[in-house]
Amino acid sequence: MSEPPSYVPLLTLPVGPLGLPRQAGVPARSLLRPFGRHLGYGADPSRQVVVSWQVPDAVADPFVRIGTRPGEFGARIPAEMRPLVSRSAWRQPGADDDPVSPRTTTQYYLHTVLDQLLPDTTYYYVVGHRGHDPAGAGRLPGEFASFRTAPVPERGGAFSFTAFGDQGIGHNAVATANLAAALDPAFHLHLGDLSYANSIGSGETSDAYDPRIWDIFFVQNESIAARIPWMPAVGNHELEPWHGEHGYGGVRARFTMPDNAWPGSTGIYSWRYQNVGLICLDGNDVCYNTPANLDHTEGRQHRWLERRLSGFRADPTIDFVVVYLHQCTYSTCPGNGAELGAQEHWAPLFDRYQVDLVLSGHNHVYERTDPIRAGLATRPAPSGDTVDPVRDGTTYIVAGGGGDEIYAFAATDSHLGHESPNDEPLPMVICRPDGQEETVETAWSRVRYTGYCLLAVEVTPAAPGRAARMEVRSLTEDGALVDALTVRRS
Ligand SMILES: [Fe+2]
Repeated sequence: MSEPPSYVPLLTLPVGPLGLPRQAGVPARSLLRPFGRHLGYGADPSRQVVVSWQVPDAVADPFVRIGTRPGEFGARIPAEMRPLVSRSAWRQPGADDDPVSPRTTTQYYLHTVLDQLLPDTTYYYVVGHRGHDPAGAGRLPGEFASFRTAPVPERGGAFSFTAFGDQGIGHNAVATANLAAALDPAFHLHLGDLSYANSIGSGETSDAYDPRIWDIFFVQNESIAARIPWMPAVGNHELEPWHGEHGYGGVRARFTMPDNAWPGSTGIYSWRYQNVGLICLDGNDVCYNTPANLDHTEGRQHRWLERRLSGFRADPTIDFVVVYLHQCTYSTCPGNGAELGAQEHWAPLFDRYQVDLVLSGHNHVYERTDPIRAGLATRPAPSGDTVDPVRDGTTYIVAGGGGDEIYAFAATDSHLGHESPNDEPLPMVICRPDGQEETVETAWSRVRYTGYCLLAVEVTPAAPGRAARMEVRSLTEDGALVDALTVRRS
């Protein structure tokens, strides 16, 4: 039975904004199109997928319909609507004057957690609400999208994932997202600083903030995020102190992450995809130079991280452990420097549990270290090399060239096709707990690239006579290779 349309009084006006006569009786909610669809995996990606989207105004009875054949959709699965009211703190970009405000914006985010899905299965889906069902008459093919659940771990073969951080909005952000789409990964890790709606990112209420930037962000990424799950980390630009929950009220309205460290552990979660255990950390918790959320978990994240790393390493079906967070544990880029808090609190755990890769953004460049243990390189690992984390230690990668303005290194770039002498110690800028900056010498910065890029990782499970491998590549926005490294576990 078809539903009664809803109507708005506005449509009784005799003319519209262009002087054209308005049609009386147009069902208003049917004019509201969902936009900004973005997917996420649950902690079990073989059975759980989150469908999220936005609508321009409040709607009734939002839903998802899914099916395993194109065009054949099942019953409506209700969605949760999370309205988010923001007061902009807007100022002219680049201006130093105080923000002018307020302008109130209400955004309507919708989320449905799908579970009990079939593993290794392609699902087609549409999203709608009362008065708008894309699966009904007059449907538009562009409103259909699909996703694929992960295989169960013991049945899976090779797969790939991509990662970048610090994307923002604009043509470079589109280019890196398009490159990720062309690589057709199983999932994409967003390493934080997503939209830059908070353009200052200090986590203080004096920051400049325009929530409408998020609308552009989700539209910009929809062509890939509507079919490839994006798993975000929270960066300092996700701090929106006007919202509650340590400034993460906006994140919680816009995303549904696994957040399974404890109830409400925003941006702190673990999950697995086949033979890879993944841990997402909130670097704001250990950040000395942006201390708005310093130690906001009161040590809880650290204790959870140790338990989680121990659990993954005790699981014989997990080969690789990949940790991702926004802030850089190790980096020689002076833009945001390296995070001493991560070095002090978490690097010893990465050593102890032989974490294979630690991925971050924050510095808007690409940088890869030699394998590190106890803060020191264990050996040089130039592009094309193979590292064994058990023997060599952990490799740290900064992949912050996702689209926002690129930073500069103090040292010369060195990457595939542009190798430069790389034997001299390089300075690393760190921020002490008292806020004072200090520069120390390091000798582990192996690959540096100043430009837009993403990380692409191909994972091949172990087979009789063959070790499990991760082929790690860094690609520029036009697809050129700037770094390649194999991580092998036997
Ligand atoms: Fe950042």
